[in-house]
Amino acid sequence: MAQPTFEQIVNLAKKRGFVFQASEIYGGLRSAYDYGPLGAALLRNVKDAWWRSMVQLRDDVVGLDSAVIQAPRVWEASGHAAQFHDPLVECTSCHSRHRLDKLDDPERCPACGLRGSFTESRDFNLMFSTHMGPVAGEGNLVYLRPETAQGIFINFENVRRVSRRKLPFGIAQLGKSFRNEITPGQFVFRTREFEQMEMEFFTRPEEAGQWFDYWVEERRAWYLDLGMRAANLRLRAHEGGELAHYAAATYDVEYRFPWGWDELEGIANRTDFDLRRHSEFSGKDLTYFDQAAGKRFFPHVIEPAAGATRAAFAFLIDAYHQEIVRGSARTVLRLDSRLAPVKAAVLPLSKKPDLVEVVERVAGLLRPRWDIEVDVTQAIGRRYRRQDEIGTPYCVTVDFDTLDDQAVTVRDRDTMAQDRIGIDALAGYMADRLGG
Ligand code: GAP
Repeated sequence: MAQPTFEQIVNLAKKRGFVFQASEIYGGLRSAYDYGPLGAALLRNVKDAWWRSMVQLRDDVVGLDSAVIQAPRVWEASGHAAQFHDPLVECTSCHSRHRLDKLDDPERCPACGLRGSFTESRDFNLMFSTHMGPVAGEGNLVYLRPETAQGIFINFENVRRVSRRKLPFGIAQLGKSFRNEITPGQFVFRTREFEQMEMEFFTRPEEAGQWFDYWVEERRAWYLDLGMRAANLRLRAHEGGELAHYAAATYDVEYRFPWGWDELEGIANRTDFDLRRHSEFSGKDLTYFDQAAGKRFFPHVIEPAAGATRAAFAFLIDAYHQEIVRGSARTVLRLDSRLAPVKAAVLPLSKKPDLVEVVERVAGLLRPRWDIEVDVTQAIGRRYRRQDEIGTPYCVTVDFDTLDDQAVTVRDRDTMAQDRIGIDALAGYMADRLGG
């Protein structure tokens, strides 16, 4: 199956209102995006699916929601203040700025084509800073978190105590992170404000290796379970020079984006780096006492770190299909029903009031359990196409026979097969297919 082009995906996302340019009425804010009704639902479904698999279905992981702004010392301890930077060069001719390590040719400016026009490379820290309180000054400089992970490490002891967990156990959190990326781009793939889904899994040092292998496989399986095609997913081990300052080993789960293989998620063995550093910097003891072994030590950490906005984008790309049906082109998003923004559309065959009345009754039956949409405009064929294009798994059509037989036609998005189902049996029929 051919991958869609980047333009096809961006056009669909804009046309159907998955994603809008941020601050559009003011001319737009570069590389910032707002999620429209369908995009917000897709993103929420991705996050819910992650939370369900990482927290709800496990008894060894608990959740957390920590603050975006933390004490500045957190970022000194984590190494972000000193090490979280990218090499920045500026073209002295056109003044465009670039990340040196991402350039195909480090001598040539990709904006104006000039060679040898770059300034010396300098380290550019990626953390966004702001001031806390009414007067800006040195003493109240704070940062927006560049990862959700540190909020977990600094709460390790709090969470362990209240959840009464023994090793191994994990703490999961999702939420916004901010990085002042030098070169954001590829639509929502790399932005300065984005959402992460991270879990820190605390283990005995000698068990870290086996848990690392476990989480690499587990995280790859999560994407496959949600319908991502195996041919578009791969695992790639980081090479020595690529490893982050905290990592002993890292695997990336990569997706075949329209521009090539690129990172979806990183699974890192962070050793005891973070707990040890926060202990040193805070003066608080963050070791763990293993009663069975009668010893105290810093737990080691395996971290699966995913991007929610990036995953939603990849699911959108992977679901995109174009096909010819009875001589005409059909665009269909084959999203897993757990991710689809709308689970079922309820459509009257015509706008006649007695049909619309039944549509309201049918919608009322389904709405408490699933996200549904009622659409009474246009010809039925166009409404089916619109629902296919936004990935709605089922269309429920109320026609003139419904008034006699109290049954509706349910059309399956992927097979386009139609079943005639009594209105009384409809919720059960949907529950068999959608769950919930
Ligand atoms: N705590 C480890 C950590 O943050 P990372 O590889 O820098 O590791 C994890 O980030 C994930 O967050 C990435 O795999 C990606 O999915 C997402 N991510 C990172 N920077 C991003 C950006 N600028 N825009 C969108 N997603 C981003």
